[in-house]
Amino acid sequence: MSELDHRKRIMSEVRELVAERLRARVFVPGRTPVRYAGRVYDADEVVNLVEASLDFWLTAGRFAEEFENRIAECLAGTDGILVNSGSSANLVAISALTSHLLGERRLRPGDEVITVAAGFPTTLNPILQNQLVPVFVDVELGTYVPTFESIAGAVGPRTRAIFIAHTLANPFPVKKLRGFCRERDLWLLEDCCDALGSTHAGEPCGSFGVAGTLSFYPAHHITLGEGGAVVTADAEYARAVRSLRDWGRDCYCAGGENNTCGRRFSQQLGTLPFGYDHKYVYSHIGYNLKATDMQAAIGCAQLDKLPSFVAARKRNYHALREGLLAYEDRLLLPEPTAESDPAWFGFPITVRAGAGFGRTDLTRFLDARKVESRNLFGGNLLRQPAYQGIRHRVHGQLPNTDIVMNDSFFLGCYPGIGTPEIGYMLEVFADYFRGR
Ligand SMILES: Cc1ncc(COP(=O)(O)O)c(C=O)c1O
Repeated sequence: MSELDHRKRIMSEVRELVAERLRARVFVPGRTPVRYAGRVYDADEVVNLVEASLDFWLTAGRFAEEFENRIAECLAGTDGILVNSGSSANLVAISALTSHLLGERRLRPGDEVITVAAGFPTTLNPILQNQLVPVFVDVELGTYVPTFESIAGAVGPRTRAIFIAHTLANPFPVKKLRGFCRERDLWLLEDCCDALGSTHAGEPCGSFGVAGTLSFYPAHHITLGEGGAVVTADAEYARAVRSLRDWGRDCYCAGGENNTCGRRFSQQLGTLPFGYDHKYVYSHIGYNLKATDMQAAIGCAQLDKLPSFVAARKRNYHALREGLLAYEDRLLLPEPTAESDPAWFGFPITVRAGAGFGRTDLTRFLDARKVESRNLFGGNLLRQPAYQGIRHRVHGQLPNTDIVMNDSFFLGCYPGIGTPEIGYMLEVFADYFRGR
């Protein structure tokens, strides 16, 4: 039998197995957990994964190349750089801003980066890991992102960049910031780890500044198991990101290729001997944050589903919002920011002051009935043990960030949730509020 015939036979078995597994899934209200997030897949992902495994290329190969091109298109960029997590994407995205390739515009130790404390730790961590100083601004309740005015007001003489996440896919005011950053010569970087598919002013999130970062952990809009990406339209910056991902090497040949630059053995670099093999020349202090072709293969199949995933997230958001409107006097429901169309990562809720119950009382009730919820990540990161004593500045005060920490949570609205799950979630809320 030829290899092609073997593969055909294997793939048809794989398709049958996955179809059977998925057919066996039924939603039993109160018994089947309504997850806050999760991987959504069918046989296509498993077939791609098996294809990549049989290729046995293992490191980034044909699927990685396809995935990088397609993910770049999603964020209207020219370069998609695949890494092994969203946290790695954030790390290389910030680190690349310190690259000598950016000349005088590069960030230097002590430069300030505006961000928020109501968020995920690895948006903040690369700022600290690069000896930069975070400047924290407060977020708005309901949108969970800062206003343009608070960000603009936080700019000081050492401020050089803005790096903020589109919280749960709700865009921070990137259109206004794009113009502002150009005028002030500030770098704008978008953490889109929770926001693949969100648009602001009709443009994809992640396309407004120098780069957008993505996470492909199973909770996210598409999954590779683990994975992340940086998308940019700036070729020089992309080179810095790739170099930092790939051990800091100066060479930018794709895997298995040689002499792309045409000067592999004819350059004078550092104080190395003339013509030292470019493959082993290091111009950044880098990492190895690469992903495998198996991960990328899953991602290629997931990308085909992205439009339907985004539509499902929006549908679920609207259904939950409509269903929970009855409790609006006690629950602050989410609002998209102006000109935004979020591909909601989750459905954030803040228990209003004076509601007569606390966040944890409600989330415990939900949990006991198999409706999962999550806190809005780290709450106020400045109150987390890891960040005691970090060098930072706070612009104004962070009262809403503390409210997020104490009173906010989010429900799932991922595509694994359908009409029966939404109906059940609303019934559970009705039970909670009955007689209150
Ligand atoms: C806003 C944000 N940034 C970064 C990350 C990190 O992504 P990863 O888990 O892939 O490292 C997350 C993770 O959920 C996130 O929510």
